[in-house]
Amino acid sequence: VEPRTLTTADLPDLLALSAGAGWNQTPDDWLRLLELAPETCFGVEAGGRVVSSAALIVYGGGVAWIGMVLTLNEHRGRGYATALMDRCLVEADARGIGCVKLDATAQGEPLYRKLGFADEAPVERWTRPPSAAASRGEFAAGWDEDLDRAAFGADRGPLLRSLGRHESAAAGGGFAFARPGRVAAFFGPCVARDGESAAQLADWFLSRHGGETCFWDLFPGNGAARRLAVERGFQPARKLLRMARGPSPAWRMEEQFALAGFELG
Ligand SMILES: CC(C)(COP(=O)(O)OP(=O)(O)OC[C@H]1O[C@@H](n2cnc3c(N)ncnc32)[C@H](O)[C@@H]1OP(=O)(O)O)[C@@H](O)C(=O)NCCC(=O)NCCS
Repeated sequence: VEPRTLTTADLPDLLALSAGAGWNQTPDDWLRLLELAPETCFGVEAGGRVVSSAALIVYGGGVAWIGMVLTLNEHRGRGYATALMDRCLVEADARGIGCVKLDATAQGEPLYRKLGFADEAPVERWTRPPSAAASRGEFAAGWDEDLDRAAFGADRGPLLRSLGRHESAAAGGGFAFARPGRVAAFFGPCVARDGESAAQLADWFLSRHGGETCFWDLFPGNGAARRLAVERGFQPARKLLRMARGPSPAWRMEEQFALAGFELG
């Protein structure tokens, strides 16, 4: 099995992969990955199409993220995901990256454990059905890359700038992004020093997207984030596990109110 680098020409196959798994990625989301990681998005081809994928995104500060580990149903069990993970880890090691992280589904977890990943924290997808929009909160667009770096534990500035092409809002002590999805409007990342700012940012999001199905990925260990989601009509839908290979630089769960997405961190 020989993984190859993915390009924008693969977009139709990649969309078929993620949509086939019921995932939320839009063409824009795949293009963002290819832009952030032009050399380290990989695929395995079979019968002239890409049937398995994995992406390594190198953040600043010695941390990289692996996402979009996915094999078409009828091609599973042939070692494709293993080969793609091996390739991502070789690339991370070649770049001297000390810590590789990912959010594992129950299906992916055994594979990652074999490759040396250890538990970091549970993460969850929460969903909200379309309902009446919240009252309108108006905020300037923007974000704080220093706050993000301290909370996330790595520099994901290029990712934030890319997400900023959709919607962002800066409140007193934090910021949040929103982007469209194939299945649902996505809230996050949302990073804030205090729950009051995060509450305002969640209301900003719902004032714009409350009429749609919404996703909000969070750490269940962040009680304030969980409470905000409950109060706004979100319910847990999927449980994943954040895992790390190598020592994780310091990060702050209590300031991360919404994740950027399981494929991004
Ligand atoms: C997880 C996933 C990517 C594995 O892809 P794959 O190409 O089948 O993976 P591999 O063939 O390299 O197998 C890797 C491991 O998966 C498990 N696995 C693979 N096929 C399996 C099957 N038919 N039944 C049960 N376990 C299986 C095994 O643990 C295997 O390890 P082994 O080779 O030591 O037995 C694939 O199941 C998938 O796309 N699942 C849905 C999306 C998902 O959850 N992705 C993970 C995101 S973190």
